[in-house]
Amino acid sequence: MVIVMHPTGSAADIVAVVEAAEAAGCEAHVSRGDSRTIIGLAGQVDQLEAAALRHLRGVADVVRISVPYRLVSRDHHVQRTTVRVDGVPIGPGTVTLIAGPCAVETPEQTLRAARMAKAAGAALLRGGAYKPRTSPYAFQGLGEAGLRILAEVRAETGLPVVTEVVDAADVELVAEYADMLQVGTRNAQNFALLQAVGGIGKPVMLKRGMSATIEEWLMAAEYIAQRGNLDIVLCERGIRTFETATRNTLDISAVPVAQRLSHLPVIVDPSHSGGRRDLVLPLARAAIAVGADGLIVDVHPRPEQALCDGSQALVDGDLRELARVMTVLPPLGGRTRA
Ligand code: E4P
Ligand code: PEP
Repeated sequence: MVIVMHPTGSAADIVAVVEAAEAAGCEAHVSRGDSRTIIGLAGQVDQLEAAALRHLRGVADVVRISVPYRLVSRDHHVQRTTVRVDGVPIGPGTVTLIAGPCAVETPEQTLRAARMAKAAGAALLRGGAYKPRTSPYAFQGLGEAGLRILAEVRAETGLPVVTEVVDAADVELVAEYADMLQVGTRNAQNFALLQAVGGIGKPVMLKRGMSATIEEWLMAAEYIAQRGNLDIVLCERGIRTFETATRNTLDISAVPVAQRLSHLPVIVDPSHSGGRRDLVLPLARAAIAVGADGLIVDVHPRPEQALCDGSQALVDGDLRELARVMTVLPPLGGRTRA
C-alpha cells in the first residue's frame, strides 16, 4: 500500500501517518520527491483500514498495490487452476457440463433427470437437497433424504454429485454425500458458511452473489481459500440489475474478467441467470464463446410439475441441442469437452 501526501502536507502530517501505520504493525518507508512525499507500507497491511488512513491530515490518496484476495489471485498463482471433482476436470482446456434437477424431488425424477443429463454429455450431476427459497411456503428441499437419493443416482449413473449446503451446521453431513459442495448466491457472503466449506476438504462451487461485485465474489472465495481449500469453482449465475425482462442479468463479461484476476475456473449458470428455458441455449452459447470453463444447467423430465424453477429447466430436445452446441461451437482457446 502507498500513501500519497498532499504537496501541502507538513512534516507533522507525515509523522502522524507513519505512527498510525507502525501502530498497526506495518513498516513505513518515507520517500520525499521534489513536489510529493509518498509513504510505502509493508507488513500487516490488510489490518489497515485504507479509509481511515485516507482521512488523516495531509493525505491525498491511498493506493493499494496488491489485491486483497491474495490466495485466489493470479498474482499468487500465475497458472490457471484445474479443479478435479472425483477426477472430472473443471478448468482451462475443458468445457465441463454439470446438469441435473434444480431440486431433488423423488428418486424417479432425479434418476430420469440424471440420465437425461448424462445422455447430453454431463460429467457431473447437480441436484438441490436444501433449497434456499424466497418464500418460506415454497418447497424447501428433502434434506438428507435428498442427499440419499443423490447417492443412489450416483451409484446408478456414475455421475459425481454437486449439491448445495445452506447452513454451516450441515457442512459435514452434506460433505458425506457430495463430491463438490455448492454455496448459493444467497449465501455468497455467509462468512461462517464459507469458512466451514473451506475446511471440509472437498471442492466447492461458489455462486456469485446476485448483488456482488467481482471483487466481493473473489473475496468470498478468499474466505474458502484461507481455510486451506483452493479447489474452488466460481459460478457466474447472473446479477440483479434494473432489467426485468430476465430473471437476473447474466454478466457475461465477468467470465474473462474473473479469469484474468483469479486462477480459479469460472463456469456459467444460464438457467438461473435467464430464468427461462428458451434463454438457456443462447446464454450457454455466449458462455462457451467467451471462454467459460463449464456450464451448469437445470434439467427436469416434467418441468410443468417441478417443485422449483420449472420454467428454466431443460427437457430432452433442448439437451440434445446443448450437446450439439458444446461439440460444434469452437470454445475459446481450442478446448475439449470434459
Ligand atoms: C435455486 O434453485 C433457488 O432455490 C431458487 O431459484 C429460488 O427461487 P425462489 O427465490 O423463487 O424461491
Ligand atoms: C441452485 O443452483 O440450485 C441455486 C440455488 O442457484 P442460485 O444460488 O444461483 O440461485
